[in-house]
Amino acid sequence: MNLIFLGPPGVGKGTQARLIERRMGIPQIATGDILRAAIAVKTPFGEAAGRYMSRGDLVPDAVMIEAVAERLQQPDTVGGFILDGFPRTIPQAEALDAVLAGMGRRIDRVIAFGAAEDTIVRRMSGRRICRASGHIYHLDSNPPTTPGVCDIDASPLYQRDDDRPETIRRRMQVYREQSEPLIAFYQARGVYTAISAEGEIEEIYQTLLAAAAPQVLG
Ligand code: AP5
Repeated sequence: MNLIFLGPPGVGKGTQARLIERRMGIPQIATGDILRAAIAVKTPFGEAAGRYMSRGDLVPDAVMIEAVAERLQQPDTVGGFILDGFPRTIPQAEALDAVLAGMGRRIDRVIAFGAAEDTIVRRMSGRRICRASGHIYHLDSNPPTTPGVCDIDASPLYQRDDDRPETIRRRMQVYREQSEPLIAFYQARGVYTAISAEGEIEEIYQTLLAAAAPQVLG
């Protein structure tokens, strides 16, 4: 199953992608995580990308397309994948179609997560991430057992630079201007499903499974 998770920043795409990855055994390909890993090891690519990210702007299409095209060549994607945070623009979506067509593959379903703006702002403001592997927590809705420490690998938790109020506002604006046109793009291809991301993580996960992978519910 080749999936795309679409939706505004902080709506909960990454949280759900990690659950689906475990359940279906297909990798989550999160472009934000790829960029943050490059920033952490201070590659020239990471340093250039970091300047866009800290402003809340998108990294240029050409570099993102190249990074995703390369990732899709890895053997772990053969049984399917979850693209989380890509595509984010129409040129990225068109390039993805071309890359997949070249591999004899296509997108099976695009799931678009929606929630009210105040829900999204609350989720981003309280988010904490584990330094080692990017496990996702929230101070109120999904806190770690020991404050500031990842339950899974005991690494320290941190707040993303782009989860500060001014950057959150810019990211929402960028989403509306550059990513929302993808809704019509995928609706026209007949692979689009919108689901509500309001409510508990488990409740959304069950809705998502029914929409994205009814066969695994058996
Ligand atoms: P990226 O890392 O992709 O960020 P994003 O899309 O803005 O999405 P987020 O990671 O902020 O949120 P999410 O929807 O995954 O929510 P999460 O599950 O963490 O991108 C960062 C930057 O990189 C971009 O701004 C851009 O600069 C660059 N970039 C990345 N991809 C690019 C591309 N393709 N092209 C160009 N530039 C690109 O949840 C959020 C919080 O809510 C967590 O704390 C979580 O615990 C909590 N939560 C989740 N679900 C629930 C729930 N149901 N109830 C309560 N709390 C919940």
